[in-house]
Amino acid sequence: MKIVLVGVNGAIGQAVQRHLGERHTIIGASRTNAELKIEMTDSQSIRSAFESVGNFDALIVAAGAVAFNTFPAMTDDEWQLGLDSKLMGQVKLAQIALDYLNPHGSITLTSGVTSKESIAMGASSSMANSALESFVRAASTELPNNLRMNIVSPTVLEESVGQYGEYFLGFEPVSSTSVGYAYQRSVEGVENGRTYEVF
Ligand SMILES: NC(=O)c1ccc[n+]([C@@H]2O[C@H](COP(=O)([O-])OP(=O)(O)OC[C@H]3O[C@@H](n4cnc5c(N)ncnc54)[C@H](OP(=O)(O)O)[C@@H]3O)[C@@H](O)[C@H]2O)c1
Repeated sequence: MKIVLVGVNGAIGQAVQRHLGERHTIIGASRTNAELKIEMTDSQSIRSAFESVGNFDALIVAAGAVAFNTFPAMTDDEWQLGLDSKLMGQVKLAQIALDYLNPHGSITLTSGVTSKESIAMGASSSMANSALESFVRAASTELPNNLRMNIVSPTVLEESVGQYGEYFLGFEPVSSTSVGYAYQRSVEGVENGRTYEVF
């Protein structure tokens, strides 16, 4: 399969690359330092990146930023980051990919454990992740050409404890291998509209 992987250089992107890279052709995408340059908050950038790839079989999104801050202190810009990047960036990628995915192809998005569990300074993260999971459940019923769409919801990865561990005290980290299997199940399996929790 020809797979476009947005966020290829991140912790999750690298886990997916390791897990699926031997069996499939992965086209890594991000804003910098990737085969395919893409800005997921910009529809025009997404369309021109996909146009340069041509048709493909699967889109995996392992990117999207949110701000961490206490609810009373969150600024307008901090709320907007989660809405524009983590939430609508992934929704736009999924919607525009419909014009480029081969029949029976798939879309896999990424949420996170905060859709179900609360952490300090996690209101924006919880909001975006819950919205994404509801979006996938609903929009997956309206996909053309026998496409499928699922979402992976990991807790903190072992590799990311240094970066996010302070926010996830008491949450047992998961291995990149476990996370890789969830993306594989979405891409190579038969299910549609599922949230694959890795926690
Ligand atoms: N790591 C974890 O433990 C964990 C757990 C649960 C959920 N998640 C979620 O999984 C996603 C990826 O997390 P991560 O930790 O792997 O991220 P990361 O290490 O920060 O990497 C993010 C990747 O996405 C790219 N990227 C960032 N903003 C982008 C944009 N606007 N347009 C295009 N590409 C962009 C980055 O490259 P450039 O900077 O070059 O664009 C990079 O390749 C995030 O949404 C995160 O919330 C992560």
